[in-house]
Amino acid sequence: MDRRDRLIARARQGYRLAYGVEPSRFFAAPGRVNLIGEHVDYNDGYVLPCAIDRETIVAAGPPSPQTKEKLFEAVALDMGEMASARDSFDLLAPIRPGDNNWQNHVRGVVQALGRYGHKVRPMRIAIAGDVPIGAGLSSSAAFGVAVALACSDYSGLELAPEMLAKVAQLAENDFVGCACGIMDQMAAAASVADHALLLDCRSLETLPVPIHKSLAITVIDTGLRRSLTESAFNQRRAECEAVAQHFGVKALRDVDYGRLLRAEPDLDHTLFRRARHVVTEMERIEPVGVALARGDTAQLAAVMREAHLSLSDDFDVSLPPIDRLAQMIAESLGDAGGVRLTGAGFGGCLVAVARHDAGPAIDDAIARYNADADLPARADLFRPARGAAPIEVG
Ligand code: GLA
Repeated sequence: MDRRDRLIARARQGYRLAYGVEPSRFFAAPGRVNLIGEHVDYNDGYVLPCAIDRETIVAAGPPSPQTKEKLFEAVALDMGEMASARDSFDLLAPIRPGDNNWQNHVRGVVQALGRYGHKVRPMRIAIAGDVPIGAGLSSSAAFGVAVALACSDYSGLELAPEMLAKVAQLAENDFVGCACGIMDQMAAAASVADHALLLDCRSLETLPVPIHKSLAITVIDTGLRRSLTESAFNQRRAECEAVAQHFGVKALRDVDYGRLLRAEPDLDHTLFRRARHVVTEMERIEPVGVALARGDTAQLAAVMREAHLSLSDDFDVSLPPIDRLAQMIAESLGDAGGVRLTGAGFGGCLVAVARHDAGPAIDDAIARYNADADLPARADLFRPARGAAPIEVG
């Protein structure tokens, strides 16, 4: 049994245990790692994430034939502290937030589908996942998009990836309380296997960018987490919006570096630094995309280094031990690949894009870091995966 088969078996078993019958359909959506374009999505710019081979699987089937024709029922497995939790709610009544996060997330998705005019049929689902939680790999987007796909497909709706992503984002914004952008949900919904996804966060147009076969994607989890991540994230977003407002534009996408520099004397210094990160990060998308397609590891090394420093110095979402590990890996890799903080930050993961044969260089740096780190860092290799889809199960 491979990883996915085991996960499907978990979802099937959870469904059977919860409802006493077999599920009739299965759906999947992956987590993602962002390669470049950090904190750019909610500023309407371009980003370049790629889906990974870790995912949320939803087993789905009809509602209980007895009394519950109008009920939506859900059970969540393999979700850390939410293990084996159950929820049910009435689809004919207004949907209200439940007691905990995963319940809110499911309810939020069903409600968001309704707000976009898509009616969900009563059904029962079981959700299992293996995207690491809290590691910056968007377990949350995988969850939301998988549930959106299951609900819509099961209800006979054929929704485009952009709609699935918008539904999942609205659910997080409204029911989970995170002002996240659209990148994670689009990566979960629209990625193409063996490619990164160039995404215009304003138009939601996408272009799959091939990842050169000489390259491997390694995610290094530092185990470090900052508290109050959501409020800090929302604050960063507000800071960016304040600068956009200063310029009288819709979003920082509409400001270039020269214009920002000219305005430096008029801007609060923290706000200026936040905007400098976003505006310079937008200029790093294209060189990283080209380097990915060509397998140009020297270019990846140079641009990802700049990106890391910008996140750390200007956007202030790194931590000293993470900076230290990034530096050690960068030195060990030399021109064999690049490394930087990925995802929202405030702790979390580094991503390295490097030649396949550079694995030992990464491992060596991590071993030296771990020798005197409070928390050990660990590396995982991920394959660029496809976005959300129904699964044919025999
Ligand atoms: C989180 C958010 C995304 C994006 C990244 C930072 O993952 O959910 O929308 O803003 O942080 O790039």
